[in-house]
Amino acid sequence: MDATQIRRIEEYQLSPTLQQEIAGLLGRAFPGYPSGQTYFQQLPSFRFLATRAQQLVGHLAVAHRMINAGGTPAFVFGVCDLCVDPLFQHQKIGSILLDALEEEAVRFPVDFIVLVATEPEFYATKGFIPFENPSRWVSIKDHKTVGLMQQPIPGGLLVKSLTGKKWGDGVVDLLGTMF
Ligand SMILES: CC(C)(COP(=O)(O)OP(=O)(O)OC[C@H]1O[C@@H](n2cnc3c(N)ncnc32)[C@H](O)[C@@H]1OP(=O)(O)O)[C@@H](O)C(=O)NCCC(=O)NCCS
Repeated sequence: MDATQIRRIEEYQLSPTLQQEIAGLLGRAFPGYPSGQTYFQQLPSFRFLATRAQQLVGHLAVAHRMINAGGTPAFVFGVCDLCVDPLFQHQKIGSILLDALEEEAVRFPVDFIVLVATEPEFYATKGFIPFENPSRWVSIKDHKTVGLMQQPIPGGLLVKSLTGKKWGDGVVDLLGTMF
């Protein structure tokens, strides 16, 4: 089996070819993802890409942001669109991508890695804990701001704490869009 290569790339450095490859992968991994698009609502800060024999097989985008973590300002890496090509799932590629992000997060350091997930079992294996705080975030549709959402996030936020900072009980304000 070919080795998995991981690299980090700043958003502004993505070539048109790479953007096309990422859009293709997102379309295969997430049925209904906006066609040809590399982001759901807003651009991330950077991405980790996984390749096998130079083929893009895994992806994780990161919003580097300050949020209000239930009463305390906190530095976070918000994970968006973590996915592995359906033909390459269950080969630890998703785990390797999250490990690479955590290594970067510990070095910075950020206080929490945060995400909203449809696969909580996978993230439980990686040490993420669910929180159901009331939350606030900006909603964007078709490149227009359509409102300010204020409600608990369906399914909850999954949080991995890195610096020992306390995740509060109050409102979580994402200070921007959903991850
Ligand atoms: C979720 C996803 C990123 C996991 O990536 P992966 O490379 O297949 O995962 P790994 O091989 O690292 O899995 C490690 C362990 O996590 C658990 N796991 C992985 N995928 C899972 C899933 N879909 N449901 C439940 N548990 C899962 C398993 O325990 C797995 O170990 P195993 O393969 O020995 O059973 C991938 O399945 C995927 O892209 N799914 C479609 C897109 C998606 O839903 N992304 C997440 C959005 S929140």
